[in-house]
Amino acid sequence: MPCRLPSPGKPVTATGALVVAGEHGYAAEMSSRTTPMTSTPRMGLPHLGYGVGLRTPHFGYLLQNQAQVDWFEIISENFMDSRGRPRAVLNHIAERYPIVMHGVSLSIGSTDPLDFDYLRRLKQLADEIHPAWISDHLCWTGVAGLNNHDLLPLPLNDDTLQHVAQRVIAVQDFLERPLILENPSSYVTFAASTLPEWEFLSELTAATGCGLLLDVNNVYVSSVNHEFDPLEYLQKIPADRVVQFHLAGHTNCGTHLIDTHDGPVIDPVWQLYHRAKERTGGCATLLEWDARIPEFPVMEAEINKARETFGVGRLDQSETDETHRPSVPHPAVLVTAEVE
Ligand SMILES: [Fe+2]
Repeated sequence: MPCRLPSPGKPVTATGALVVAGEHGYAAEMSSRTTPMTSTPRMGLPHLGYGVGLRTPHFGYLLQNQAQVDWFEIISENFMDSRGRPRAVLNHIAERYPIVMHGVSLSIGSTDPLDFDYLRRLKQLADEIHPAWISDHLCWTGVAGLNNHDLLPLPLNDDTLQHVAQRVIAVQDFLERPLILENPSSYVTFAASTLPEWEFLSELTAATGCGLLLDVNNVYVSSVNHEFDPLEYLQKIPADRVVQFHLAGHTNCGTHLIDTHDGPVIDPVWQLYHRAKERTGGCATLLEWDARIPEFPVMEAEINKARETFGVGRLDQSETDETHRPSVPHPAVLVTAEVE
């Protein structure tokens, strides 16, 4: 375990569901772990279409050209304290496209106190650029005031659930909006874990009213590394809480996969993405490409595969015909195929 989690003593029901509430009403109804929720798709947030991350190597291109994407995601920390060229480029983009703020330092799972100076600066940026929503990761990124800049996994059990839920509610109350949390890719599990990730996320959304950023590549990477069924993961997450997808490339190390964001999306992840769209009805989709970043037109072409290959028309057609739905082979089979 990375750290010892406190037990704040919040009541828990017989099913394990938390009884917690936020000051501003972002806590949701209690739920059983097996009871599907039925509410507004995407929590009522807009389907932004197909976007890419705003990255420094593309600044010059984006100032000179009209990007053929629907929206941009920014790494919040890259712009929170910037008043120079990065902010000028962001302002240029924000005047033309919807923006989503995606953070990497909230450290929602840490046992450190929440960093309200960080949250104040995050909220300040949001007040200035008006993002469609603010997201971060289900992880911890440091302890004792140190940031190690990694998205570290959590032991998934009831103690962690109570701890994280209380912090999510505090963050949502401060930001005055729902927090959207992303499933991380992971490479280790904990002896102290008692809940599968999909169950942890389901309970967390029910207890706090937060949303989900479903990284389809992360589901695939973790499913291979931990040998679970990615389709079961998709089937058991609360579909109406998913407001965004991530797509990305990863590195196959033979014995395990690493979420490197350094190449195109592989076919099995596209297939899983198709299933995720069927499961949720579709939502804003973002291509992540953070190493060996190609020219912007390559990014455009890759994200527009999501639009063209798995767009609304194609999806509607497949949804009416069970026999034409693509099957997703078990990840172990796919890894073998990739190694070969
Ligand atoms: Fe992601």
